Amino acid sequence: MSKLSGKWALVTGASRGVGKQVALGLAEQGCKLLLHARQLDHLEPLLKELRSRGAEARGVAAELSNAAQVDALIDSVLRDPGGVDILYNNAAIMSPWREAHTTPGDDYRQSFEVNVVALSRLCDRLLPPMLKRRWGRIVNVTSGIENIRELLPYSMSKAAVDRYVRDVTPSLEGTGVIMSLLDPGWLRTDLGGDKAPNAVETCLPGALVPVLLEDGAPSGRFYRAQDYRTDIAKN
Ligand SMILES: NC(=O)c1ccc[n+]([C@@H]2O[C@H](COP(=O)([O-])OP(=O)(O)OC[C@H]3O[C@@H](n4cnc5c(N)ncnc54)[C@H](OP(=O)(O)O)[C@@H]3O)[C@@H](O)[C@H]2O)c1
Repeated sequence: MSKLSGKWALVTGASRGVGKQVALGLAEQGCKLLLHARQLDHLEPLLKELRSRGAEARGVAAELSNAAQVDALIDSVLRDPGGVDILYNNAAIMSPWREAHTTPGDDYRQSFEVNVVALSRLCDRLLPPMLKRRWGRIVNVTSGIENIRELLPYSMSKAAVDRYVRDVTPSLEGTGVIMSLLDPGWLRTDLGGDKAPNAVETCLPGALVPVLLEDGAPSGRFYRAQDYRTDIAKN
C-alpha cells in the first residue's frame, strides 16, 4: 500500500496537461482527489476515468483570476471532512508572445493574478490546517524558462512563485509539512505548444517525487520532473 493511500489531494488545473497526469499518478498512489478546472464540465472525462478505476474524486470549479471564486473554492474544500493533505498548485496561464518592450500592463496583471496571487492564497489558507495536523505536502509548479523577454509576464510570475517558496519554507522545518517547487519540463500541452520536445506523460513519475518525500525531508527544494524519466537512457 502506498504511503499516500487515503490522503486527499487538491490538484489545480487538472482537466488537461500536467495536472491531468498528476491526478492520474496520485490516483495510482491511492489518493482521493479534489480536481480543479475553470468549469466542472472540463473535468467530467477525467472524473469518469478515475471513478472507473475505483478512485474517489470530485470536481471543483474556479476562475483563478477571480479572488471571490478562489476563496469559494478554498471554502468548499475546507468544508470536506477529509480536508486537504496535498495541495498541487499546477494551474497557470502563459502570457501572449509580445515583441520586446511592447507588453501591455494587463499581461502582467493577468499572469500574476492566476499564477501568483491565486497560488499564494491557496497556500496561505490551506497551510494552517496542515500544520495543525502536522502533515502536508505542497507542490508549486514553476518553470525553467529563461532569457525569453517576449514572455516576461509568465517568467516573472514563476520567479515570484519561486520566491514565495524560498521565503515561506524556512518556517516549515520540523512541522511535517513539506513545500517544494516542480518544473515539469518543456512539454507538448496547450500551454507548452506543439514544438515542445517532450510528451506530457514524461512529467511522470518525476512530478510525484515531491509528494512522495519521506517525513522529515527538507522543504524548499526544486525538482525537475525530467530528471526522473524512466523511458530514456541516462549517461
Ligand atoms: N507545458 C510546459 O511546457 C510547461 C513547462 C514548464 C512549466 N509548466 C507549468 O506546468 C503547469 C501546467 O501547465 P500545462 O502545460 O499542463 O497547461 P495547460 O495544458 O494549458 O493546462 C492548464 C490547466 O490550468 C487550468 N487553467 C487555465 N487557466 C485558468 C484560469 N484562468 N483559472 C483557473 N484554471 C485555469 C486549465 O483549466 P480549464 O480546462 O478550465 O481551461 C487547465 O486545467 C503550469 O504551472 C505551467 O506553468 C508547463
